[in-house]
Amino acid sequence: MKRSIEDHAARFDKAAATYDSEGSPEYRAAADLVTDHAAPEPNDVVLDLGTGTGAIALALSETAGEVIGRDISEGMLDQASEKATDAGLDNISFGTGRFREPNVPADTAVDIVVSNFAMHHLDDAAKGEAIETIAALGPRRFVLGDVMLFGEADPSEPFYSPEVDDPATVGTLADALTSAGFALSAVERVHDQVGVLVAERAVGDDS
Ligand SMILES: C[S@@+](CC[C@H](N)C(=O)[O-])C[C@H]1O[C@@H](n2cnc3c(N)ncnc32)[C@H](O)[C@@H]1O
Repeated sequence: MKRSIEDHAARFDKAAATYDSEGSPEYRAAADLVTDHAAPEPNDVVLDLGTGTGAIALALSETAGEVIGRDISEGMLDQASEKATDAGLDNISFGTGRFREPNVPADTAVDIVVSNFAMHHLDDAAKGEAIETIAALGPRRFVLGDVMLFGEADPSEPFYSPEVDDPATVGTLADALTSAGFALSAVERVHDQVGVLVAERAVGDDS
């Protein structure tokens, strides 16, 4: 991890008020793909990790039974909660939690996990641990939208800042997902450095 969790949280606390007005077309395309591929059923519980201001969580709350948003930035979470309250949504909740400690109540069975543009803040070893943690929650599907490298890393491209971000190659992410018991059902390339991976729990894996 190039920055500590506290550094990332402080950075996003500062950015929270203007975050929603700043997304690139590629970010928006990835967010739409994550929402579409998550495709929750009316009884599903969805966990959104690195939920930020709740873009994905709010969209999924229209069709899911319940949505749980987790993030390390109180500033981002405040924005998300305000939007949910303004929209009168009562099937969505936000709170602190991190990839490796999602802070999901022990009696809650999570059906689908989503994450958009957040995991690239972790180094590859921590991404692997995060994916193991997600698999241990037992979801049938994990949809990951993020900065990820389909080709050679190009730090001059606008999708990540080498000083704070640590995107993985698609191959590294695919290996971590399959090691954790998922099977990839779709790979969406939005840009050479932005993609969405759809991972389903491998048949027969009841762990
Ligand atoms: C670029 S924002 C994306 C927010 C949202 N998913 C979206 O699509 O708009 C990244 C978010 O990841 C959160 N984040 C960074 N590291 C995290 C970690 N280890 N665990 C949970 N959230 C983290 C940040 O606080 C920030 O809100």
